[in-house]
Amino acid sequence: MKFELTEEHLMIQQAARDFAQNELLPGVIERDEKQQFPAEQVKMMGELGFLGMMVDEKYGGAGLDTISYVLAMEEISKVDASASVIMSVNNSLVCWGLEKYGTEEQKQKYLVPLAKGEIIGAFCLSEPEAGSDATSQRTTAIDKGDHYLLNGNKNWITNGNSASVYLVMAQTDADKGHRGINCLIVEKGQEGFTVGKKEDKLGIRGSDTHSLMFQDVQVPKENRIGEDGFGFKFAMKVLSGGRIGIASQALGIASGAYELALQYAKERKTFGKPIGNHQGVGFKLADMATEIEAARLMCLKAAWLKDQKLPFDKESAQAKLYASSVAMKTTVEAVQVHGGYGYVKEYHVERLMRDAKITQIYEGTSEIQKIVISRAVLAD
Ligand code: CAA
Repeated sequence: MKFELTEEHLMIQQAARDFAQNELLPGVIERDEKQQFPAEQVKMMGELGFLGMMVDEKYGGAGLDTISYVLAMEEISKVDASASVIMSVNNSLVCWGLEKYGTEEQKQKYLVPLAKGEIIGAFCLSEPEAGSDATSQRTTAIDKGDHYLLNGNKNWITNGNSASVYLVMAQTDADKGHRGINCLIVEKGQEGFTVGKKEDKLGIRGSDTHSLMFQDVQVPKENRIGEDGFGFKFAMKVLSGGRIGIASQALGIASGAYELALQYAKERKTFGKPIGNHQGVGFKLADMATEIEAARLMCLKAAWLKDQKLPFDKESAQAKLYASSVAMKTTVEAVQVHGGYGYVKEYHVERLMRDAKITQIYEGTSEIQKIVISRAVLAD
C-alpha cells in the first residue's frame, strides 16, 4: 500500500488550488448573496479541463483518473461549493454516464462539447414525488416508434437553466416498474421543454437549481441511453460514481472551514494567548483534523477502487455518508471557533456551514447511503 500521490496528482491539486484562490475566491461572497451563477469561472474550468476530467482525451476530456478528480474537487470546494457542484454533476453524472453507456454518435454529439466544457449538462432524476424513492418516476416517455413522447416534471435540478443537455429519466412501461424506465438525452430549447422556477436555497446559492417541465417533448429514439428499460440502472450506476464527487465536495467544504479556523485560532488572542492554545479550541481543531483525514482517505479509497475497475458502490456511499457528516460538524465548529466573526459573511465559514448541509441531502440523503451500505454488508 502506498500513501503517496504521484507528481501528476500533485500538479493537478496545485492547479485546482491556484484556480480556486485566484478565480473563485474574489467574488464568492457576492455570488452567494446574489445567487449568481459563476458563468465566467465555469468557462475557465472548462478550458482548464476540470469539467471533463475523467473523459478520454479522444472525446475532449482530460483523461485523468478519479483520484485526480477527488483532489481537484476538494480544492475547489474549499473555496466555492457552488462551482464544485456544477463541476461534479458535469463530470460524474453526465460525462461519465455518457462515456460509459452512450453510443458513439451520442459521444460525438454530446460528450465532446460537455467534456471540453463548451456546454454543461444536467442529470434529471428527482421529481416532486420521487426523491429518495427514485423508482417512483411519474414522468413518462411513451414509445411512439421512432421517438418517445416525454411528459412530466422534474425538481431540484442542478444546472437546471445553465445546462444545454439534460439526461432525463422517465417511465416507458409502468407494468415493468424500474425495469420500464429509460434515460433520454434532451436538448435545451426542444419544443415543449420549459425551465421552471429557480430555487432560493440555503447554500450552494451560486449554482442554479430549477424545476423542469416537459410537455409532449419528442425525443428521438437514438437519444435513449442503453437498451430499453436500462434507465434506472443507469441512474444508480452513475449516482454511485457521483457520490465520490459529492463526498469530495463535502471533504473540501470541511477542510476549507478547518483551514480558516486553524488560521484564526493562531492569530486571535484572548486571555493573553492565541485561542488555539486554549484547550477548548485546540481539541476542536484536533477533532476536525482527524475526521477530515479519515474522510479524505475514504474518498481516495473509493476513487482508487473505481480506477481499478473494482466494485465501489459501498465505499462511495460510505465516503459520502461520512464526509458529509464531517462537513456539517466541522463547519459548525469552525463558526464556533470564530465566535461573532464566524457569524458574518466576510469570514467565509458561515457560507461553508450553509453549503455543507446539502451534501447530506443530494445524490441520496444520508439515510439512502445507509440503505446502500447496509444492503452491501448484509450481502457479504
Ligand atoms: N448499480 C446497478 N444496479 C443497481 C444499483 C447500482 N448501484 N443499485 C440498484 N440497482 C438495481 C437493482 O439491482 C435492481 O435491479 P433488479 O431488480 O434488476 O435486480 C434495481 O436497480 C432496483 O434496485 P432496488 O430494488 O435496490 O431499488 P429500491 O427501490 O429499493 O431503491 C435506492 C434503491 C438505493 C434507495 C435508490 O432508489 C436510490 O439510490 N435512491 C436515491 C436517489 C438519489 O440519489 N437521488 C439523487 C438525485 S440526483 C442529484 O441529487 C444530483 C444533483 O443535483 C447534485
